[in-house]
Amino acid sequence: KEAIKIGLLGSGTVGSGVVRVLRENMEEITARVGTRLVLAKVLVRDVKKPRPYLEGVELTDRVEDILEDDEISIVVEVMGGIKPAKDYMLRALAAGKNVVTANKDVVAQYGHELFDMAEAHDADFRFEASVGGGIPIIMPLKQCLTANRITEIMGIVNGTTNYMLTKMSECGASYDDVLKEAQEKGYAEANPSADVDGLDAARKAAILSSIAFNTRISLDDVSVEGITKITPDDIAYAKNLGYVVKLLAIGKETDEGINVRVHPVFLPEEHPLASVNGVFNAIFVRGNAVGEAMFYGPGAGSLPTASAVVADIIDVARDIVNHSFGRVNCTCYRKKVLCPIEK
Ligand code: NDP
Ligand code: HSE
Repeated sequence: KEAIKIGLLGSGTVGSGVVRVLRENMEEITARVGTRLVLAKVLVRDVKKPRPYLEGVELTDRVEDILEDDEISIVVEVMGGIKPAKDYMLRALAAGKNVVTANKDVVAQYGHELFDMAEAHDADFRFEASVGGGIPIIMPLKQCLTANRITEIMGIVNGTTNYMLTKMSECGASYDDVLKEAQEKGYAEANPSADVDGLDAARKAAILSSIAFNTRISLDDVSVEGITKITPDDIAYAKNLGYVVKLLAIGKETDEGINVRVHPVFLPEEHPLASVNGVFNAIFVRGNAVGEAMFYGPGAGSLPTASAVVADIIDVARDIVNHSFGRVNCTCYRKKVLCPIEK
């Protein structure tokens, strides 16, 4: 069977993780998809920058090399920002290519345009990594919990600020020092004010609430306060009283409508979200059938985020295989899985 070709837009923290996961797990991925995935081209700003992990892959600074390549069927956007990422994704979808992204800025503000474009061109548009880094939450909400009427969704959805608050609480580290550490670890946004001002969490709150409550929540509907006013004294004061400071994203169904907000809170130490520390995120969902469910895991970072991006790529690739080759590929996939056991 022909290989499925991928064009990667961006190869920074997340993009390099995607390359690594695709390479290291290629055998398993090929077995799971039923055909080989090939990273055909990578778009970067600076093609001269040394990137040994991309040896053998074509690098370009012209997006047309990817968008106009008929052999590329999956475009993975991990550049970040609205411009030009949104335009590139719309153009890819308009060309009938499937798009996978980790870009919460675009999904939160322009997701509807991308969904419409995907539908008009019978293409897939996936964004699992846009919320919660490596935590599976978008697909569980869309699929596994879809039988529920969800009344509340609440959680820690920004790894940078949770890392900062944890370090400030554990060792009294200074705000500036821990922010620098989070940036060095690749957790923070290109402009880290999006993290500390609560905007990144607000974008994620808008995405989660739109799916959970089956409505369109825009960024303007979310009230936002970040952690910039939190001092080491606030954290020490909370600790003395048996509380921890956490930045929460909250979406709730009320009699007046859906209320979505992001702000720091004092959580009692015994609250399940109080022990979510460092870069870890957790999202708590209340549904009328499931009751309470909680999703926990690394909320940012190269490989955890790549785990979610590559899962989307695999899912899209399976769709391509099933559409193009029908059941034959399912059989092929089963054979590949069974072989080692039969041996
Ligand atoms: P980085 O800044 O590390 O990487 C961005 C990459 O995109 C770089 O390779 C850069 O090229 C390339 N790029 C940016 N703008 C352009 C442009 N105009 N033309 C061509 N190439 C461009 O970002 P991250 O990997 O951290 O984040 C990427 C996306 O993933 C963002 O949307 C972010 O919000 C999201 N995300 C990030 C997470 C994380 O933990 N970092 C977690 C979850 C989501 P060059 O290398 O030449 O500079
Ligand atoms: N800057 C984001 C965070 C990246 O710290 O959570 C993951 O979306």
